[in-house]
Amino acid sequence: MPISFDTKSRTFKLDTPNTSYIIEVIDGDYIVHRYYGAKIPDCDLSYMHYDRNPGSFFPNSPETNISLATQQLEYPTHGIGDFRTSALMIRGADGTATTDIRYTSHKICKGKPRLSGLPSTYADENEADTLEITAVDKHTGAEVTLVYTAFANHDAITRSVRVKNTSDKVLELERVFSMALDLPGHDYDFIHLWGHWAKERTPERSPLHHGKQSVESVRVSSSHDHNPFVALVSPEATEEAGDAYGINFVYSGNFLMEAEVDVFGGTRLITGINPTDFTWRLGKGEEFTAPEAVMVYSNKGIGEMSRIFHRLYTNNLCRKEWKGKKRPILINNWEGTYFDFDDEKLISIAKDAKELGLEMLVLDDGWFGENRNDDTQGLGDWFVNEKKIRCGMKELARQIHALGLKFGLWFEPEMISPISKLYDAHPDWCLHVKGRKCSPSRNQYVLDYSRADVRDYIIDCMSSLIEEAELEYIKWDFNRNMTELGSALLPPENQKELTHRYVLGLYDVMERLLAKYPNLLIEGCSGGGGRFDAGILYYAPQIWTSDDTDAIERIDIQYGTSYVYPASAMSAHLSASPNHQTQRSTSFKTRGIVAMGGNFGYELDLNKLTPDEREAVKSQVADYNKYQKLVQEGDLYRLVSPYKNRMYSAWSYVAADKSEALLTFAVMRREIYDRYYFIKLAGLAPDKYYLSSEDGKVYSGALLMNAGVNLAKRDYTDGDSLIIHFTEVK
Ligand code: DGJ
Repeated sequence: MPISFDTKSRTFKLDTPNTSYIIEVIDGDYIVHRYYGAKIPDCDLSYMHYDRNPGSFFPNSPETNISLATQQLEYPTHGIGDFRTSALMIRGADGTATTDIRYTSHKICKGKPRLSGLPSTYADENEADTLEITAVDKHTGAEVTLVYTAFANHDAITRSVRVKNTSDKVLELERVFSMALDLPGHDYDFIHLWGHWAKERTPERSPLHHGKQSVESVRVSSSHDHNPFVALVSPEATEEAGDAYGINFVYSGNFLMEAEVDVFGGTRLITGINPTDFTWRLGKGEEFTAPEAVMVYSNKGIGEMSRIFHRLYTNNLCRKEWKGKKRPILINNWEGTYFDFDDEKLISIAKDAKELGLEMLVLDDGWFGENRNDDTQGLGDWFVNEKKIRCGMKELARQIHALGLKFGLWFEPEMISPISKLYDAHPDWCLHVKGRKCSPSRNQYVLDYSRADVRDYIIDCMSSLIEEAELEYIKWDFNRNMTELGSALLPPENQKELTHRYVLGLYDVMERLLAKYPNLLIEGCSGGGGRFDAGILYYAPQIWTSDDTDAIERIDIQYGTSYVYPASAMSAHLSASPNHQTQRSTSFKTRGIVAMGGNFGYELDLNKLTPDEREAVKSQVADYNKYQKLVQEGDLYRLVSPYKNRMYSAWSYVAADKSEALLTFAVMRREIYDRYYFIKLAGLAPDKYYLSSEDGKVYSGALLMNAGVNLAKRDYTDGDSLIIHFTEVK
């Protein structure tokens, strides 16, 4: 039983295979945090209590001798003497915002209830226990439920919060975070993933300092800028050793993740909806659910933290229809043709795709609207452009399917072009502020997904095409962020709900489409990986990782993305050389090897391949089919970081039973005197013996991990790469 309650000490203990998390209810019915770390047998940690009031500037709680400012609080609230950042702030009908919640009851159940209207990890009765602690603010009538799920097979605990208004007056939620974690001490480094278009998820690490350190989004999208992920790791933590707490937010809109080191040297980390542009009005009897936050802890380093996220997301976030299933190897026409294609061209690409062993044709931007020959118009007009697809979409799809390929279409369902029939008919369907002009971005505006009529319209349009063309896949793109936050339908007092209502609307559309078409494969996308988060991943088991398809730059991007997200979440394509984003030329082989680190596909004009390249495609497809399971379900070991070693990088995938491993080595920049390409593997069984596909020799796991693999036996050029498969010999 992963969750227990000790009535004597009023202590909750949440256990995962290797971690424990301890919560205590203390005098005054305050809920305090006692411990999160490596698994311990004990549950009573009340001796860890800090009971000295530090002085006159630290108010005591009204009924006890405790100052909340010195407690590790499980869910800190605003205005009652804890001056650190708070997780909850409710403005009552009297206009005040003091919020004071006290424990009233709890329940523990098997499994994991779904979060209403929100994406989340899931678990059946044997996989997890859930604890719900209820605490009440008597003054406002807010009933707050702290929800924790502890997984039996993963070192992960998920958190969420519900707030119910039991009063007959309106309450305003100004801050309602999904989790808070108070850690004793501040000897941690803060790791986050920053980026921008074509440079997503770059890891950055810096020591915590007094005061606040945060990452956030106010773009109403998780964004290219900062991923909703933070890790606090011990200063000496490496890939293989040290403490690592990783927090990931299962949400695709505005977020804030903030670490605060207080004057006593403690650290508080909070994660949740960004209070900027957010206030939720809760009417009598209504309930608000905060999105899920996932907490992972490992004392085996940053690499193990990532592997826990990977296993959890592969097994307990990915939709059951696609869990453990290989995704089709696709050809996407975007970089091959951009907007310049017709049905004949598409069929000739499809014929080549079939001959070369690919499995799906994806028709990207430009197939719809009156004249979508560039990005200046047409979004919202989801009807086929018969000047380009002269045979019609149904017939095009029929021909593609007749070749034995699957067929997928690009949509940008949240957008509207000011030059479109949809905008002519419904100018108020976009987010806008009456009396102000909208700021265009990529010549487009954002549809108001808080409106049910807009969502119904989009579902109808997409459903017609999914049915007409019998689509197996859609690419769901999203190419701008939001400005002029206003909805024509919301009354003034509810306009601050728009940011969250938008995201709930997006999830509603995805949920309803998938309920209608459960086998549909959705690929998330946002100008590359601008909305690469666990919320989208719940609906779309794969996400376009970046518009930067340059193999060398993709090493950095995929490496950073792997801090949280598994290989099965990352779409990666082989594109033309010189690369369209960087102009760098890279060998066909390396472009393939790097793209095989995710969901593999091609994004170039197949008709232009040379005979040698066509042969190369066939053997890449064979390699991918051979290694895909190992890459996507095996354990990832990041061996040489491209951020530390700007010359080469290496990573490997190891099967769960340690019977095989695949090493990838890529030389980004050859240096003449760099001789010691000795790569130490990790995660193998030391006492097993492995046959190397490179030289046909057998090595012990211990040798490969301690002395390493000698890759200095050959000459490399810039951008060279290789893979070596190690298989156990008995
Ligand atoms: C941005 C995406 O990231 C690209 O892959 C492509 O689909 C374009 N949009 C199309 O406009």
